[in-house]
Amino acid sequence: MRIFSGIQPTGSKHLGAYSGGFRQYAASQELGEVFLCVVDLHSITVAYDPTDLRERTLELVAMLFATGMDPERSTVYLQSHVRAHAEAAWLLSAVTTVGELRRMTQFKDKSEQQESVSAGLLTYPVLMAGDILLYGTDRVPIGDDQRQHLELARDVAQRFNARFGETFTVPEGIFPEVGARIMDLQEPERKMSTTGTTPQGTIRILDEPEVIVKKLKTAVTDSGRDVRHAPDKPGVSNLIEIMCVATGESIAAVEARYDGQGYGPFKQDVAEAVVELFRPVKARYEELRGEPGELQRLLARGAEKARAASAPTLAAMYKRMGFVRP
Ligand code: TRP
Repeated sequence: MRIFSGIQPTGSKHLGAYSGGFRQYAASQELGEVFLCVVDLHSITVAYDPTDLRERTLELVAMLFATGMDPERSTVYLQSHVRAHAEAAWLLSAVTTVGELRRMTQFKDKSEQQESVSAGLLTYPVLMAGDILLYGTDRVPIGDDQRQHLELARDVAQRFNARFGETFTVPEGIFPEVGARIMDLQEPERKMSTTGTTPQGTIRILDEPEVIVKKLKTAVTDSGRDVRHAPDKPGVSNLIEIMCVATGESIAAVEARYDGQGYGPFKQDVAEAVVELFRPVKARYEELRGEPGELQRLLARGAEKARAASAPTLAAMYKRMGFVRP
């Protein structure tokens, strides 16, 4: 089975992103052949800083390897290193309508927030469809906010197949389980993020151990003293889920272990578990960031594999669309 996902080089390297993203990418390697594309070409559709983009891209790549992507088994690469992505987007724009692009909720939301809306913001889902379709992808692990874009990719694939002949596999999404969401430690009604108003409520993967301990010890808990996962205990429930992410245990196992112990020892143990979870990740990340040559070598290898995997699909697209081939 072939699995493809694209990740934007945004700066979010926190526990929530680890739980819902990094850890899942690494786990998907057990399900099939994984292509992970850092979608740098997608990052230029809204205002951005070029120096920033370069930094964030390299940071994300280092984090993907540090959290368990295996360069032997999987293909991790930059979108801009494989020309087929830009070419596929142009070809597919011929079978996508402006009407359907305008209906995308993300386009509506983002374009309302800006005075000047780039053409790329509108055509972004066409690039994304190409990303997925070039690789004969069966499954796409993806956030809930991307459902509509994946649906469009499926429509575009079917339309192309009907018009030009069977070319693309029609992909299916893999969506994160409900509840696999890590909340802010200070405001557990809100998802953990790096852009929130409570920096103390966000654990960064690269935080120093003592910072992680401090943040977890000062996490808000609820009234009572039972370590129990319940809707009226959002703070404690979140800490239990964090413990599950860190140790791989079930919620019931964590509840049973802290039965009658109160919040104090529990918080201490959650902190230790998270420190141990991120210790090797941080070490590997720093090692890779300290060796730009190694990172470039890994990326060159990924790009080579991605070029080889996408070339036949792109060639078939050109051929079926009636282009004279060189
Ligand atoms: N649009 C996706 C996001 O913002 C990123 C993305 C680009 C992607 N191309 C993709 C995701 C292909 C999955 C498959 O998160």
